[in-house]
Amino acid sequence: MSIEFEGGGEERIISAGMHPEDENEGSLRPKYLREYIGQDKVKDNLRIFIEAAKNRKEALDHVLLYGPPGLGKTTLAGVIANEMGVNFRVTSGPAIEKPGDLAALLTSLDTGDILFIDEIHRLNRSAEEVLYPAMEDFALDIILGKGPSARSIRLDLKPFTLIGATTRAGQLTAPMRDRFGMLMRLELYTPKELLQIITRSAQILHVETDPEGAMEIARRCRGTPRIANRMLKRVRDFAQVQSDGIITRQVADHALQALEVDALGLDNIDRRMLHTIITTYGGGPVGVETLAATIGEEAVTIEDVYEPYLLQIGFLSRTPRGRCATEAAYRHLGLPFSGQQSFAF
Ligand code: ADE
Repeated sequence: MSIEFEGGGEERIISAGMHPEDENEGSLRPKYLREYIGQDKVKDNLRIFIEAAKNRKEALDHVLLYGPPGLGKTTLAGVIANEMGVNFRVTSGPAIEKPGDLAALLTSLDTGDILFIDEIHRLNRSAEEVLYPAMEDFALDIILGKGPSARSIRLDLKPFTLIGATTRAGQLTAPMRDRFGMLMRLELYTPKELLQIITRSAQILHVETDPEGAMEIARRCRGTPRIANRMLKRVRDFAQVQSDGIITRQVADHALQALEVDALGLDNIDRRMLHTIITTYGGGPVGVETLAATIGEEAVTIEDVYEPYLLQIGFLSRTPRGRCATEAAYRHLGLPFSGQQSFAF
């Protein structure tokens, strides 16, 4: 199984994109639905669809998983493959350069196999056109020759399931989106769910944690299991070198402070973003492109990585005219709130 790393050069412990050190994330990944914590609505529906498809001895309908990075889209796709008892083939939108790359993958699939395409919104148009008949009719249309004598032949494929994953469902073309039988949105995890994930990972990694220590990580990993597992490993290093190896609340707090992650999981970039909205733009509204240019980040990174958590904890609100910092954000940064922002509704 090959997994592409998202994004480049991100050093932050709280970035939700894949880091090289997450490569052995595999051992922490749950294999079956019963081990997969959280996302209860998605799991409940999947259980039904998987059982129905298995009873009919058919391939599962195509699934689109969307939501912020680091929430376990690849993991869930692997879980679906294990539950269906089929092979799991992994690729990503940017890895498929030519339609032929995709055709080669599709023809190599066995009946019922799952093809997982990460970052499916980055698939190029010509590859996407190969996918339409493949998804709809399990067929590959091949053009032979050129010009007026060109003709097309249709090759049959074995029935398969495509699982697409994206952080930006809105960027998928309508014909692509319409070909998925199930559209499933993954949500940020609650601290309680994250506590269970961290406790499970600690057991697998043979790290001793006390419940308060694990809860401290759960509170500060911005709703994201990938960040939780990464923090667990870094806090373990502090516990091992500066303490007796046990992750207590004190050790976790000290380690996360050293990593410049504050009590709510915000890092310097989050704080700089909120600070800029408040001090440069009077609390907002400010358009995401303007904000991105001011703080030197990409607008898509703001939308995919920073915003979901800041929206969830109520530090940011999204209005038609742009982003606004809320009173809670002012309080967290220790700035006076006048209550006179020009909220645009
Ligand atoms: N590790 C990462 N995500 C997980 C999840 N949702 N459940 C269990 N373990 C995980």
